[in-house]
Amino acid sequence: MPQTDIVILKALLNAKEAFVSGNSLANALGISRVGVWARLEKMREQGFSFEAVRHRGYRLVHEPLQLHDRLTRAYLDGNETRIKVLYEPEVDSTNSEAERQLAAGLGDPFVVLAGHQTKGRGRLGRTWHSPKDCNIYASFAFRPQMAPARMQTITLWLGLHLCDLLHRTYDLPIKLKWPNDLLVEDKKVAGMLTEARVDSDLTRDLVFGLGLNVNCRMENWPRDLQQRATTLQLASREPLRINKLAAELIGTVVEAYESFMKGGWQDELMRLWQEHDYLGGRPVKAVRGREEVEGKVIGITPDGSLQLETKSGDTVAISAGEVTVKY
Ligand code: BTN
Repeated sequence: MPQTDIVILKALLNAKEAFVSGNSLANALGISRVGVWARLEKMREQGFSFEAVRHRGYRLVHEPLQLHDRLTRAYLDGNETRIKVLYEPEVDSTNSEAERQLAAGLGDPFVVLAGHQTKGRGRLGRTWHSPKDCNIYASFAFRPQMAPARMQTITLWLGLHLCDLLHRTYDLPIKLKWPNDLLVEDKKVAGMLTEARVDSDLTRDLVFGLGLNVNCRMENWPRDLQQRATTLQLASREPLRINKLAAELIGTVVEAYESFMKGGWQDELMRLWQEHDYLGGRPVKAVRGREEVEGKVIGITPDGSLQLETKSGDTVAISAGEVTVKY
């Protein structure tokens, strides 16, 4: 009964701390009060707590701290008509699932969310550590039908909007480390992996994958990750409402993608870069295939390449690669 649960959860979320009468829920759904009660019982088994008071109704007192597709949809609040949300408790990789759905003809835009990935993929053939039910693994799928050159800055654009969201809504000092990492206090909290299918010089399909460390405990993570990575919970010192966050991410990505496709975003890209860039002014080593360039980061070009000033005073633009900060 996904739609029934979404209607109930939406009403309880909108009421905030207040009670919602069983009668009004039953009327809105065209079911009996016992039917409402039965749905709430089912949701209790899934990690929700509801307070029930005679003659007043129900209120939501606790929500699950893991992804719950109906709760995410209830939080979407108006954005549900703008994007389809698919949820898998477990999948090999949400990027791979999004690619399969695109190949099968599913209309865009849609997002694949998963509670767990068995083969989460990172950049440069790496794996993405994807423990169960405490992080966000999301892949957004679009069919841009646009020349690949025009899509070059999409990851940067979306990543900067995600920084902006996390900064404004959660007051977290999130920075974007060019080209694909989100950092908080020098540690990686999220990675982005954009994959595209280009055909006859048009980007036909585009999948933007986001792995965001949210509420997972890191004690059992591989040692190198414990040193390099962090979670939003650690940064904000309390667990986050992951379904609310997932809905906010979805709303932000859909909105940012639409404005990107309309064009005229160049000034906004530069403004967001100034605000959320991690590398500016730092000495770095950039590796492009077998080539290595060292220099100080001085900005980005309009097409999203990283600009370095080398020791000899030359300006070099790096369009892709791996960057490490030299301390
Ligand atoms: C990186 O920093 O190397 C990029 C990591 C991207 C991970 C996300 S998790 C959701 C989506 N599915 C995947 O298999 N990878 C991306």
